[in-house]
Amino acid sequence: MDYSLENHASYIGRPVSELPTPALVLSKPVLEHNTRILLEDVKELGIKFRPHVKTLKCTEVTRMMLGNTHRGIVASTLAEIRGSLELVKSGELDECLYGLPVSASALPFLETLTKSLKIILMIDSEQQIDLLESYLTKSPSVSPWPVFIKIDVGSKRAGLVTDSPSLPKLIHRIESSPAASVYGFYCHAGHSYACRTEDAAAAVLQSEIEGVVQASKYLLDKDRKIVVSVGSTPTAHVIKRLQGVLPEGMDLELHAGNYPTNDLQQVATSLVTPTQQAVRILADVCSVYPERNEALINAGTVALAKETSEFPGFGIVADRPGWSVVRMAQEHGILGLKSSEQTERIAGIMGVEVNESERVESSFKVGDKVLLYIQHACITAAMHFAYYVVDEEDIVRETWVPWKGW
Ligand SMILES: Cc1ncc(COP(=O)(O)O)c(C=O)c1O
Repeated sequence: MDYSLENHASYIGRPVSELPTPALVLSKPVLEHNTRILLEDVKELGIKFRPHVKTLKCTEVTRMMLGNTHRGIVASTLAEIRGSLELVKSGELDECLYGLPVSASALPFLETLTKSLKIILMIDSEQQIDLLESYLTKSPSVSPWPVFIKIDVGSKRAGLVTDSPSLPKLIHRIESSPAASVYGFYCHAGHSYACRTEDAAAAVLQSEIEGVVQASKYLLDKDRKIVVSVGSTPTAHVIKRLQGVLPEGMDLELHAGNYPTNDLQQVATSLVTPTQQAVRILADVCSVYPERNEALINAGTVALAKETSEFPGFGIVADRPGWSVVRMAQEHGILGLKSSEQTERIAGIMGVEVNESERVESSFKVGDKVLLYIQHACITAAMHFAYYVVDEEDIVRETWVPWKGW
């Protein structure tokens, strides 16, 4: 059994340096700052916002993202929807998009969940309509299912591209099906993580809008009111650069998930600053190797994740960004000195220097603790059973338990 899961609350009031390691540390002031900015942006634009709950998968952050204003979420697992039911009970949430194209296994569980909240399905193939229609003959309790049609604007994950001959066929099939009704069009610009400037992110955002508007032209029922949902963390940061007016009958909605926490992949886009990262992993220095100028920490692949970005390695030491986790085994991380343009940038912003001749024996000793910025918060957080929530002084003020599993 995970020690933090059983004992997290006993650390409230204590400094992070006293936490059992490896531990996931969340800065509440940073989370509040990041969520507030986005809520202000969508308020200013007068559009709806649908947070994705997949990053921290917990009631407290979902509540922050909804901001007492928005009432719908996206979830990528059934466990996330089950976890969110607490917010349905408290009257803060009433709708959820199940963000994967619907599967035969998920359908009965989703049907059960419709007793608690409105469930919207994601559709990108006529075979899913076959599935819904055959399910309808066995279980007519939900008919029709509201569906978002997934449009691919470049990420090549789920979805149909707008010039696919399958797209109009799918739309017309849904329009004539008793098992589904068009709720709207949805695209997720995962490829925007490769953007390095605001202009690049704004161009992807514009392509998302063009994608959903283009797709909606295939609707036969021209009077149908629909929702068009666009977003990703990088494109959400530039939502205020949205240009043009949407056609009549279309409600614009923004979605994003990673933005409360951020991580090195987001810092690499240059759309957020290093200090907007809310997640750090605390680890112990377990050994030091002057011969190879490296140290060993007790956070490896399972505590950090194998994700990468232009920042070297799998995590960087927050207050000494020249040092990063250069190799990993399951539970071992190797700290080495590796400078890059990105680490120089982070060091500059944080007012520290990356000295390439620094020696491990003068930087770390056994018993030290290090706090690491990580590459991709969604994947790293999934491996921790309790979050230690700290204030500006890195004192634990709360502990949160995420929803696990599928
Ligand atoms: C379908 C869908 N919508 C929204 C999001 C949120 O994107 P981001 O985490 O970039 O904000 C994701 C993330 O993977 C997603 O898969």
